Amino acid sequence: MLSAKSLFQEIFDNDASFRLFCSIAASGEAQGGWENGRIAALLPESKRHLAAKVVRHGADEDKHGRIFQGLLKKRGMETAEVPEDTDYTMLLEGLGIGLAHEKLRGDEPLTEYDVLTYLVHSRVTEQRASEEMVLLRKHFGDDPGIGRAVRIISQDEDNHLAYCHEELLRLAREGHGREIHRLLRESALAEIRVYRDVSLGVMSRMGQLLGWSRPKAAALAAGIHARYVYERLGGWRRMVSLTMPERRDALGTDAASGAGAARAEPHAA
Ligand SMILES: [Fe+2]
Ligand SMILES: [Fe+2]
Repeated sequence: MLSAKSLFQEIFDNDASFRLFCSIAASGEAQGGWENGRIAALLPESKRHLAAKVVRHGADEDKHGRIFQGLLKKRGMETAEVPEDTDYTMLLEGLGIGLAHEKLRGDEPLTEYDVLTYLVHSRVTEQRASEEMVLLRKHFGDDPGIGRAVRIISQDEDNHLAYCHEELLRLAREGHGREIHRLLRESALAEIRVYRDVSLGVMSRMGQLLGWSRPKAAALAAGIHARYVYERLGGWRRMVSLTMPERRDALGTDAASGAGAARAEPHAA
């Protein structure tokens, strides 16, 4: 019987598939870390108050990258090359979602619209990260090998998502609501496609490494397509809502920056 738990267990039990899994994860996290670092450096004057949070966000993602590398090291392995068709971040960029790496490599300050684009991209991708980690935490949170790593990362991803909700609601109240909702819709619809394609890419490689039978590979691919259909038919809407999180200032920098007084009131949009 195929279950998420048995599937992950199989991937984690085999060195080659565990190596690919951790390498893809480490690469995605490191890209996120780099992006946030650059965004923090390029924030426009009007958005400098976000700098500490963006830096913290980036530092967390870098830490996650190191955690995945550490898991590999523990098993005596180095990271493997990440196949292009499993590179979630780059595929999203290819569809024009989020800020282009070209722009982030430059030294032109970002515009306010760029900051909206960054937060929207994060709102959508952090939801995915948070959900994936919740699933892993549910099945492997107590695992002696990866449990601690999974719990730490899961907590952080939840905080990143909360931060995106809070900041986007603040900007919506400042009059950018329409723009934010348009960007959220566009990003979510692109993300679900990229997620489907990356899932298919990852699963086909895992199948090769683990010698899956045709029916097993076909069943998994069918499951990925079915999830896409569910998301396309309405599941995507969960990625575009904005709700004030229970935990405010999830990245914990307001007290330090003195911005605590400007905290937003709770309400859903
Ligand atoms: Fe992360
Ligand atoms: Fe994150």
